[in-house]
Amino acid sequence: MTTISLKTPIPGPKSQALLARRQVAVPQGPFNIAPIFVERGDGATVTDVDGNVLLDFSGGLGSLNLGHNNPKVVEAVTKQAGKFLHTCFHITQYEPYIALAEKLNAITPGKFAKKTLLVNSGAEAVENAVKIARYYTKRPAVVGFEHGFAGRTLLAMSLTSKVMPYKFGFGPFAPEVYRLPYPYEYRGEGADFHEFFHTHVDPKQVACVVMELVLGEGGFVVAPKGYVQALARFCKANGILFVADEIQTGFARTGKMFATEHFDFEPDLITMAKSLAGGMPVSAVTGRAEIMDSVHIGGLGGTYGGNPLACVAALATIAEIERLNLPARAEKIGEKLRNRVLRWKHPMIGDVRGLGAMMAVEFVKDDKEPAKEFTVSLVKRCVENGVILIYAGTHSNILRYLVPLVITDTQLEEGLDVIERQLAT
Ligand SMILES: Cc1ncc(COP(=O)(O)O)c(C=O)c1O
Repeated sequence: MTTISLKTPIPGPKSQALLARRQVAVPQGPFNIAPIFVERGDGATVTDVDGNVLLDFSGGLGSLNLGHNNPKVVEAVTKQAGKFLHTCFHITQYEPYIALAEKLNAITPGKFAKKTLLVNSGAEAVENAVKIARYYTKRPAVVGFEHGFAGRTLLAMSLTSKVMPYKFGFGPFAPEVYRLPYPYEYRGEGADFHEFFHTHVDPKQVACVVMELVLGEGGFVVAPKGYVQALARFCKANGILFVADEIQTGFARTGKMFATEHFDFEPDLITMAKSLAGGMPVSAVTGRAEIMDSVHIGGLGGTYGGNPLACVAALATIAEIERLNLPARAEKIGEKLRNRVLRWKHPMIGDVRGLGAMMAVEFVKDDKEPAKEFTVSLVKRCVENGVILIYAGTHSNILRYLVPLVITDTQLEEGLDVIERQLAT
């Protein structure tokens, strides 16, 4: 029995009617991959308002490592909703915030005392990590990476390195933001970072380096372990804090709870969001207690940060990720994806790479020229045939898999069959 069930062309009539309403009511700014409206989500599937069942290979843009609507998460949220929805942690406090902070302090890499701040989105976590690093070091500069993505708020957008659509027309950007070339082996970029600290910024002025150990939006490029360790040593020697951005890599995606565990080093601060709470909006900065505690009272926070519904969802999500041993499952899914994709003999496949289930395929023309139109069209055709996929990369020429890690082997094969058929046409 197949999972995908298409009763109408995509989008169906009910989704089309909603698209028409959207056009009138919502600005075009928020982009959209699949032109459908969802009625229900379950595991690795979504059912749209026309009754079509699609396989979700994008997992809410990486937020659904645990899949749609895990019953334990739904139960925790429902139970909490029956007690209270919000108080604002700055006014009256509640236990789930503390329990989540304790849990993140315990499971994040780093054998030292830690503390955790909860906020709302990935961008907000990065903004706060930089605020804390600047405060602690009393230094102004921040170093990010080319092909990096940190979000859409001013500082996060300034750190981001893709002009269209993220930065175009939105300047001026935040000052004292510098970008290192990312160590991107397939494109021969960024093998060494030392020269950068002679030509771009004095290391003694740098508060922190913010690094995705595997680029997310940038196309699942995995940094070499030696590079990360050398950079971490350089940071330590120069009083620079290392912020590991685990917003897309965290919570089992790469075959470990955190990608950092593949690299054998200890970041000073870690940013988390996306799959932290099974789809509920919460993000976190966890780090060395003395750094996190350096900021004065009132300097951190926000009205909704660590909302109780999101906290209980996160606690249930982490418990389920642990119970189901999703890091091991991610490893298996990654192997299956890699083996299958490596069998595809398509002439435009330039690189197949990733870590665990964080796998991507880079499509190129001659001389590694990014094949953007091809990739965008492939994604569109896959969606029309029942597999929700997304592309990535500075040139939108990379297919990235963010399948929920609860996907069954049969569903995974079925989705890959669809992609394979579309590649062949
Ligand atoms: C590595 C990384 N950092 C930050 C962000 C920003 O997160 P948000 O969209 O929740 O603001 C993202 C989102 O894709 C991300 O992948």
